[in-house]
Amino acid sequence: MVNKIGLDLGYANITLSDASLEVVREPSVALLDKDTRRILSVGNTAMEMATADNQPVRPLKNGILYSVEFTEQIIKSVLSRLKNSTDIRCVFGIGADFNQKQIAQLRDILHSAGVKECFFVNRAMAAVIGAGFIPTMSVCSVNIGAKRTEVAILHKGEVVYSASKPIGGEDFDLAVQEYILKNGELNIALQDARKIKESIGAVWEGRCSEPIDVTGTLVLTGNRIHMSINTEDILGVFEKPLYELLNAVAIPMRRLEAKYIDAVLENGILLTGGGAELFGLDKMMRNVFKLPVSTMKAPDDLVARGLAAIASFLPVKMRHEGKDITEKIGELYTEYQSQKKKKND
Ligand SMILES: Nc1ncnc2c1ncn2[C@@H]1O[C@H](COP(=O)(O)OP(=O)(O)OP(=O)(O)O)[C@@H](O)[C@H]1O
Ligand SMILES: [Mg+2]
Repeated sequence: MVNKIGLDLGYANITLSDASLEVVREPSVALLDKDTRRILSVGNTAMEMATADNQPVRPLKNGILYSVEFTEQIIKSVLSRLKNSTDIRCVFGIGADFNQKQIAQLRDILHSAGVKECFFVNRAMAAVIGAGFIPTMSVCSVNIGAKRTEVAILHKGEVVYSASKPIGGEDFDLAVQEYILKNGELNIALQDARKIKESIGAVWEGRCSEPIDVTGTLVLTGNRIHMSINTEDILGVFEKPLYELLNAVAIPMRRLEAKYIDAVLENGILLTGGGAELFGLDKMMRNVFKLPVSTMKAPDDLVARGLAAIASFLPVKMRHEGKDITEKIGELYTEYQSQKKKKND
């Protein structure tokens, strides 16, 4: 039996979903040998093998394919967790800025990792399907990752706009890090800034969370000290990345052709990706755009879930192996639905 899966390889995480829509995730990290810089291990194993003086690194620069060796190893690592890994049909998520050469390289990597057939689909399109909507829906899909935000405007299965913007959750982490450096003269690790953002960060009022303790190095003396920080302290620190994020959505919305406006505005914006979990982001966007803004539970799973759902409705004999099939998704879905209806009648 063919194993139909979706794979979303991001800067922070690799997420796999199979036909039963089970989700498996590993961090997109590698542990390197300190002398040779060769990869010792990847994903969960790299996290387990990490020591104080050898910490895992993220080899995917800007979320785009960077190290072929790492990409192959991390893909093999998640595929090894499938119950049936013999006959795999994989739909792989790509950003709007992926070029033909990168897609061809990814196809070769997937084949050598044991995938029999692969297809590529825009992540923002896949996120809509993963969120439970039909691919022919008109909507502005915004997938906020750690490094990049994919924005796509979809109308009746057609991608009328798509872009990959260099803004993501990590820019919000950097804003926290910078604030603590300026106001407390304390250097903190980026992963600690991320934890602060996730546990007490907010871009809209109303978050009730306990203050948290941060440990950092005093700039002046090098002493390790603690500092307590609460939501109100950092409420304003996200202004710059937030502005960039809102702009990434506002620009295409402002330029939307008249024939798409009504349909897109009716459904508004769908927010997915881990970055969509930032407290108050949906409220902030609703307020700025005066449009419906939908969010879902576990928004970082939705691209992989959508890709797996696509894998399950592609025809058995699907052409365009190894190619970007984003533009065909609406049509293929409509065809699948009508075949299903015929069978049931
Ligand atoms: N509760 C939360 N609040 C704020 N941000 C969060 C929360 N949970 C996760 N995130 C952020 O989501 C981001 C990771 O999301 P995701 O797994 O979708 O990224 P990715 O797909 O690996 O990255 P990219 O798409 O840029 O390649 C991180 O920046 C993380 O801090
Ligand atoms: Mg992503």
